[in-house]
Amino acid sequence: MTFNFSRTLILQRLADGQFHSGELLGQELGLSRAAVSKHIKGLCDLGLDIFSVTGKGYRLAKPLTLLEHRKIAQLLPQVMQSQINVQNVIDSTNQFIRDMKVTPSNGYVCLAEAQTAGRGRRGRTWVSPYGSSIYMSMFWSFAGGYQAINGLSLVIGIAVVNALQKLSVKGAMLKWPNDVYLQDKKLAGILVEVEGQMGAACDCILGIGLNIDLPTKNLEIDQPWTDLAQATGMTIDRNELAAALIDELTKALNTFEEHGLKPFIHTWAELDYFYDKPVKLLIGNESVFGTVKGIADDGALLLEKDGKLETYHGGEISVRPA
Ligand code: BTN
Repeated sequence: MTFNFSRTLILQRLADGQFHSGELLGQELGLSRAAVSKHIKGLCDLGLDIFSVTGKGYRLAKPLTLLEHRKIAQLLPQVMQSQINVQNVIDSTNQFIRDMKVTPSNGYVCLAEAQTAGRGRRGRTWVSPYGSSIYMSMFWSFAGGYQAINGLSLVIGIAVVNALQKLSVKGAMLKWPNDVYLQDKKLAGILVEVEGQMGAACDCILGIGLNIDLPTKNLEIDQPWTDLAQATGMTIDRNELAAALIDELTKALNTFEEHGLKPFIHTWAELDYFYDKPVKLLIGNESVFGTVKGIADDGALLLEKDGKLETYHGGEISVRPA
């Protein structure tokens, strides 16, 4: 799906949440009314909630603040500013970094307004409607190789919660290994994609999808979810949150690279939403039932099963309907 120039201009006009007549939009942009209507349909297909009223024109259901490099960069130290790439509609921010011809430096970030092939964990799709979430990926290469990334996904989850707290969003918790929960529902997901040979540096693409204000209709998400708008009633500035995420993630990854998981174990215990709760752990096609008892020093999940403590390095706690 392409996101062309005319479509961007139409969206910039509609972003104020006011009515705009198809005729005037067409005149301003040198398009026929039919072409405007086709672009509006294209925007709706990307998940934007636009309605039309005869005699008044088109209107976005809610005003939209678009992501802007300048707004994000001004909230970050200068060294980070050239490391941020804001895209409009792309397949996936993780894929964007993976496809780069030149390996980026640590902390390089790609953000997008929408993804047409957003990826989730376990081969799932990450539903990515336009302008209603943060879709962000950061690149980081760990010189210490695979051994150096034990617990990495936990550290990213902690960084996301810290960024939310910076914006006064309280009460976010974590589900091992790295889902962010708010009010008993999933708020954000994290996908870590790793490339590297044994004994060599390990290149990681760290993808974060965080729900801000998702459209209410036509969303096919197969688990209980929430977004910041419905959970907090707050209007979150996505540019501010993107900057906070980049800042917290960079700080956390520098600490993790230098000191490993140890400095994060205490915080994980405070944020462990499923601690002492009975859960089902999915490992491949297998299911294991037990009670969560926190994490081991290397970030593995500790499950109590039949009175014995067992350690699991992989898998995912499932809360989906059976
Ligand atoms: C999960 O299944 O919980 C992980 C979801 C990760 C989604 C994010 S959105 C930005 C980045 N790009 C992708 O294609 N996926 C991740």
